[in-house]
Amino acid sequence: MGCLDLGFEGSTKSTLTAHLAVAAHHAGILTAVVDTDPQATLRMWSTRRQLDGPPVRPETTPDFLEPTLREFERQGAELVLIDTAGKAELMGKRAAELSDLVLIPTRTSLADMDAVPTSHAMAKAAGKPHFVLFSDVDVSGAKRDVKEAAAGFVARGIPTGRENGAPIICHRKGYKSCLIDGSTI
Ligand SMILES: Nc1ncnc2c1ncn2[C@@H]1O[C@H](COP(=O)(O)OP(=O)(O)OP(=O)(O)O)[C@@H](O)[C@H]1O
Ligand SMILES: [Mg+2]
Repeated sequence: MGCLDLGFEGSTKSTLTAHLAVAAHHAGILTAVVDTDPQATLRMWSTRRQLDGPPVRPETTPDFLEPTLREFERQGAELVLIDTAGKAELMGKRAAELSDLVLIPTRTSLADMDAVPTSHAMAKAAGKPHFVLFSDVDVSGAKRDVKEAAAGFVARGIPTGRENGAPIICHRKGYKSCLIDGSTI
């Protein structure tokens, strides 16, 4: 199964991918990560990681994404997570075509949320199930912010994690340090 994160620059895509990958790995699911971002956030995270974890492979060429996924499949991977760069149209399109589920993380700030319809359109064009995942949410205002934001998306026909039973990812300082030292929280 392939799963992709799409979204605005800095919208917490890589943090989400690292945490999902490690959680799946510890749940006994054979998991792998493809880092399509030339910034190589997860490749560097993996290099610094001292603990057991899923393999992270770089792939920045859209045409090579499918062979990379097939290779992981041949090796027995049950879940492959694809981390994308913000504003990566060609790679985002290809990754959406090759995935079974597209996650669109966003903060509840207007700047981040304004970018969501583009990711939604990309996933929709690829005919893939997708939803918006609220992330880095200020817990004090979480319920109101997320409720209002989700209602706005639903009114525009954009599915969100609220209707799909997904958790809200709260703001926690530990999410910052873990990308630096190769851990997860
Ligand atoms: N839940 C959270 N709480 C606090 N900080 C967070 C949280 N999620 C992510 N961050 C921080 O926000 C910043 C952006 O996160 P991240 O690098 O995962 O975003 P991205 O979407 O992958 O960015 P890019 O578009 O540059 O690839 C990082 O400094 C990260 O540590
Ligand atoms: Mg990233």
